[in-house]
Amino acid sequence: MAHSRVIIFDTTLRDGEQSPGCSMNLEEKLRMARGLDRLGVDIIEAGFPIASEGDFEAVRSISKELRRPIIAGLARATRPDIERDWEALAEAARPRIHTFLATSDIHLEYKLKITREEALAQAREAVAFAKSLCDDVEFSPEDATRTDLDFLCAVVEAVIEAGATTVNIPDTVGYTTPREFTQIISTIHERVRGIERAVISVHCHNDLGLAVANSIAAIEAGARQVECTINGIGERAGNASLEEIVCALKVRADVMPYETAINTEELYPSSQLLTEITGAAVQPNKAIVGRNAFAHEAGIHQDGVIKNRLTYEIMTPQSVGVPDSRLVLGKHSGRHALGRRCEELGYEFSRRELDLVYRRFIALADEIKTVEDHHLTGIIREEMQKASAA
Ligand code: KIV
Ligand code: ZN
Repeated sequence: MAHSRVIIFDTTLRDGEQSPGCSMNLEEKLRMARGLDRLGVDIIEAGFPIASEGDFEAVRSISKELRRPIIAGLARATRPDIERDWEALAEAARPRIHTFLATSDIHLEYKLKITREEALAQAREAVAFAKSLCDDVEFSPEDATRTDLDFLCAVVEAVIEAGATTVNIPDTVGYTTPREFTQIISTIHERVRGIERAVISVHCHNDLGLAVANSIAAIEAGARQVECTINGIGERAGNASLEEIVCALKVRADVMPYETAINTEELYPSSQLLTEITGAAVQPNKAIVGRNAFAHEAGIHQDGVIKNRLTYEIMTPQSVGVPDSRLVLGKHSGRHALGRRCEELGYEFSRRELDLVYRRFIALADEIKTVEDHHLTGIIREEMQKASAA
């Protein structure tokens, strides 16, 4: 069976950064963007340029440095937003203007105070203006899943006519369900004239814990781009988790004939990098990247895994870049265990270098119970910076 390609649009640096406690400075955003590039995401949404100088600079710097992925900048459906976005994207090799306007009655009436007709005209004009600057234009009808479906189809048709090449259907408030979302995407697919000229994208929030399930339902109904974040960070309960979507498609390729360009061995390193930068820890039982995702506690499970890992594991830890070690690093751990974990994380040290890392590690282990991989990579990075500055 031929596998259809699903485009991975990462919004860790835009929607993800909107999570409380996850803001990043320019240098941190650049480090994260490089990690996303190694991971192989197709598109990096680098920020919302009109929102702040910091966001503008992040979109500008990431555009300048990363030449492979498409770099998207977010803009409301107004000329000043779109102009500022385009300015930030000026040096991108592959720029995308992503513009949005709410379309649900509740947003139109209470937030924007405009009619449906006015919203339709504004969306069309904004996309036409963006298209006059940039070939690659994405439009999002915000709160699409609470928008009247006939009106949603009319908006999608109008923005494609105006030049949008991607139409993103956001479940802004994490309200939809897999079956309902399937119907919404199928209706757009069947009913909108010109839909074959655009990629259907989805952007699901996780307020009911359904973001990944809804994204996958949408793919099965014809969406070919998913918007997601590392560790599922994002506004409120977060966005669909990139690592969960990618692994679900990979592990269950037998029933879902879709593929992505993600280098799955970079999933855990990307998750750790984000945790190290933001300090926002991942819940231990988080799928794929949580501390317990490959840990086995019950005797029966341990016995099974020792005999054959497939008894209780549906993918190998190595396939997602998780070090194959159950050693817990704490203040009683020795240099040997530390050195082994460093090697598993991709660092090989001389005895002297390992001593330096070990001293810092023991000091930290005295303060906290368990030293996690992201703590260790933070120590290693700082020691490497000191060494190169000396
Ligand atoms: O959740 C949302 O609707 C968004 C849009 C800007 C795509 O983040
Ligand atoms: Zn969002």
